[in-house]
Amino acid sequence: MPYDNPVRGPGKEKKMSITIKGTGSALPEKTVTNEELSKIVDTGDEWIRERTGIGERRIATGQTVAMLASDAAQKALADAGVDPEKVDLILVATCSGEQALPCVACQVQGLIGAENAVAFDINAACSGFLFALSTAEIYLAQGIYNNALIIGAEVLSNIIDWSDRSTCVLFGDGAGAAYVEKDTRKKALFQFVQGSNGAKGEVLSCGQRDSANCFYRGEEISKYVVMDGREVFRFATRQVPDTIARLLEKAALTCEDVDLFLLHQANLRIIEGIARRLKADIQKFPVNIRHVGNTSSASVPLLLDEVRAAGKLKEGMKVVLAGFGAGLTYSAILLEI
Ligand code: COA
Repeated sequence: MPYDNPVRGPGKEKKMSITIKGTGSALPEKTVTNEELSKIVDTGDEWIRERTGIGERRIATGQTVAMLASDAAQKALADAGVDPEKVDLILVATCSGEQALPCVACQVQGLIGAENAVAFDINAACSGFLFALSTAEIYLAQGIYNNALIIGAEVLSNIIDWSDRSTCVLFGDGAGAAYVEKDTRKKALFQFVQGSNGAKGEVLSCGQRDSANCFYRGEEISKYVVMDGREVFRFATRQVPDTIARLLEKAALTCEDVDLFLLHQANLRIIEGIARRLKADIQKFPVNIRHVGNTSSASVPLLLDEVRAAGKLKEGMKVVLAGFGAGLTYSAILLEI
């Protein structure tokens, strides 16, 4: 199998260590429709809707990744009824922070006043929130921390080439956050399967700065997202269902046992393809791609917050979160609400 990596995750006996106590999201005010994009590049509403399922997206006009992340984080804490100084760990998943230093998580810590937290970023592109959630779960399971604020936040509009119609129609800006605490329930589930395939990294890349100093000057690199869309499509529609199938096998469950599949929102056809391959009921796959586009690390937590705010997450439900992205990276998490 071309994309098969050794996948790691806890074994069957693993019990849940986290419970989601609060969620929040932040979207920039500016909505950009497909019609508006057709005035910038040679594209159209019909093409974008048919090939991707996207109708519109939010684009930042002044908000930074840290600002959106802080807004979502504060809402998640308010939802949980927790003061910022009680937070032990802040993880921000992002690949579009405007500043290399300090990291976005430390900026968020300062902005929300979470003075007692440890804060750092994770970059696994669109799988980032999932990698951050599994990282937090391990810290909590080990008893190192009691709670964590996990945020996925992006201002992808800064790293998109707005003259490239094959990428600029796909992405949007936003942030989603979840505040999680250690769970003491004995039987609840937490399982994950995740992997990376760095050898395929060139199919979706973005340069940050040129290799240059006062002794050396390398070639100039693209500071914008460059993507082989078809290859990414193939990767996602094979790797994600395989990863979910392995996850369910480890947990001795089937798709029938899962109440909801919250997937990375990259393309409606990818989500439908994954559901088909899993032979799972498409009704169990809520989508928000129509109005937010692909928000990378923010995609899964934005969807999680929407579903939770709509009252669709009930105690005891089994939920699969899954995603894929640049790296290439992929991840699937099973948790019990
Ligand atoms: N508007 C109109 N036409 C467009 C277009 C746009 N925005 N973007 C590309 N096209 C054109 C292409 O130039 C091509 O024209 P040609 O046949 O004359 O050469 C045609 O549409 C088909 O292009 P193709 O790339 O084969 O389309 P597709 O059906 O594969 O859809 C993607 C393209 C990008 C939507 C699809 O491949 C995809 O979603 N891939 C995954 C990308 C992704 O999820 N990335 C993020 C990962 S986290």
